[in-house]
Amino acid sequence: MVCLGNICRSPMAEGIMRHLANERNMEIKVDSCGTASYHIGETPDSRAVSTLRTHGIDISALNARQLSRTDFDKFDLIFPMDRSNLNDVLSLAPDNEAANKVRMMTDFFRPDEYIPVPDPYYGGIDGFQNVYELLIDSCNAALDHIHDTH
Ligand code: 4NP
Repeated sequence: MVCLGNICRSPMAEGIMRHLANERNMEIKVDSCGTASYHIGETPDSRAVSTLRTHGIDISALNARQLSRTDFDKFDLIFPMDRSNLNDVLSLAPDNEAANKVRMMTDFFRPDEYIPVPDPYYGGIDGFQNVYELLIDSCNAALDHIHDTH
């Protein structure tokens, strides 16, 4: 899962995806990163941590890192959060095979529609709850897809 800073949306997506996969007894490798370098090494935004904590998910120990070309070899699916992230991810894809691994985070939940996971960084705590709800639906739909195709 990929966002801009890897301190709000994508670590939330990482925690939610891992939590939901565990509930389903699905063994998948889950990770997150940012397209930008601003927050490398930082733990997630306190609003992201507290939002997920109210839902029983702990992401307080994650550390931000930046997307790397090698991620295209390590993962089967890469989920950017919005169109800006999508363009940045695709610009790093080394070839068509790598580009074909990239799907918008909401794609399996709402196919054929552009639904971004909105950047909550400059807003209030409500934005983080909104991100949580969209990510729950999106991650469940992605896990349905992975379950059906692997
Ligand atoms: P994220 O949110 O991409 O969901 O981690 C942001 C975090 C930091 C900044 C922007 C968005 N920033 O400009 O520092």
